[in-house]
Amino acid sequence: MEKIIITLDGYSSCGKSTLAKQMARALNYIFIDSGAMYRAITLYFIENGIDYLDDAAVKAALTKIHLAFDYNASTGSSDILLNGRNVENDIREMRISQLVSDVAANQYVREFGVAQQQQMGLQKGIVMDGRDIGTTVFPQAELKIFVTADPSIRVARRYLELSAKNPGITKEEVQANLAMRDEIDSNRTFSPLRKAADAIVLDNSHLTREEQLTTALQWANEKITAMSVR
Ligand code: C5P
Repeated sequence: MEKIIITLDGYSSCGKSTLAKQMARALNYIFIDSGAMYRAITLYFIENGIDYLDDAAVKAALTKIHLAFDYNASTGSSDILLNGRNVENDIREMRISQLVSDVAANQYVREFGVAQQQQMGLQKGIVMDGRDIGTTVFPQAELKIFVTADPSIRVARRYLELSAKNPGITKEEVQANLAMRDEIDSNRTFSPLRKAADAIVLDNSHLTREEQLTTALQWANEKITAMSVR
C-alpha cells in the first residue's frame, strides 16, 4: 500500500493530538505533535533567558537546540527530547502555554520548526498535527483535516485535562489561555493558523472519540486506496 501524509490543523484544544495519535496507531504511521516542538523551544527560552523578540538571541539559541522524539511504551506515543532530556511533562505546564504562541510567532523559530517537520515527512506514512501543517509544512499532503469544536466544549475538555496536573487552575484561566493562543496563532505574520483550501472540516463538538476516529480513518483509507490503484 502507498503511504500518505495526513495533516490535522485547528485551534487549541480541539482534540487534534488525540485523533492524530489514534490514526497513526491504526494505520501504523508515525505521529508527530508539532506543538510539542514549539513548546520545547519555549522551555529552552525560559530556562536560558532568551527574549523571543530579540532575533539575534533567538537565532543563536536555535543553533543550540536539538529536538527529537522518543517512543514511550507506557503511553504508546512519543515523548519529546530537548537536547537529550525528556521534557514531555514540563512542556505541558501553564507557564509554557502562556508564552508558546509568542515564541512560535517568531520568524526564525518558524523556519526552524518547519524545516525539521518537513524532514520528518520525507518517507511519508506520517500523521502530524499543528496549526500550519496543511498550509505551510506539507501543502502537498494527500489528506488534510481541519479540526474544530465549540469553544465552550474545548474549554471544558482542556480544563478537565489540566486540572488533574494543576489543582489550582480555574476554568477562566483555561478559557483566557485558549482565546489568547488562538488570537496570536491566527494573526501572526508567518504561517498563521488557516484552514487549507483543500482541507476537510471535522467538527467533533458532538462526536465521541470513536466516532471521529471512524470518520477520519474512512477518509484516510479512501485516499490510500486511491493512491494505490493509480
Ligand atoms: O498543539 P499545542 O496546543 O500543544 O501547540 C502549542 C502552541 O504551539 C500553539 O498554541 C501555537 O502557538 C504553536 N504551534 C504553532 N504551529 C504548529 C503547532 C503549534 O505555531 N504547527
